[in-house]
Amino acid sequence: MKFGIICASDRCFRGECEDLSGKAIEECVAALSSENRYLLVPDEVPAISRAICNLADDFGADVIFTTGGTGFAPRDVTPEATKAVIEREAPGISEAIRAKSLEITPRAMLSRAISGIRGKTLIINLPGSPKAVRESISVVLPVLEHAVETMSGNTLSCGGDYKK
Ligand code: MTE
Repeated sequence: MKFGIICASDRCFRGECEDLSGKAIEECVAALSSENRYLLVPDEVPAISRAICNLADDFGADVIFTTGGTGFAPRDVTPEATKAVIEREAPGISEAIRAKSLEITPRAMLSRAISGIRGKTLIINLPGSPKAVRESISVVLPVLEHAVETMSGNTLSCGGDYKK
């Protein structure tokens, strides 16, 4: 699978800190990944939306993970930037991440992360800390292969049990 990784962070973009969350995503997907492409952008809707389109349309990522900018701070705009460029929502993914994360911390309800599909690319918002990335991504890793297969149109449905 080809993975796109986007870190949305003003501070990392300005070089004031290192992006450890993007690295955490890279580590988590290593076993599934044939190729990764990484983009670091500021917390701005146009920059984040452009990065998603670039990785989906030009790089042809199967799955894009964003990290950061899902909270309540005024400059947390990753969900809005994602919504602007997805064609179909995939709410179950973010619901599952939040449900599992709520078993770890009540602050999980402070993430406004969304997931959705653009063409044949699945886009999943993750929160901004390496800890939250690891906790969240472990929820979705088991379904990624099937999700990608389904988006490609190469499978009828779950199990492909449509004989009649
Ligand atoms: N989810 C998990 N699994 N673990 C966490 O530690 N932190 C929460 C939440 N989701 C957290 C989590 C916190 S403290 C915030 S503010 C929101 O994610 C939004 O984070 P972001 O603004 O960095 O995207």
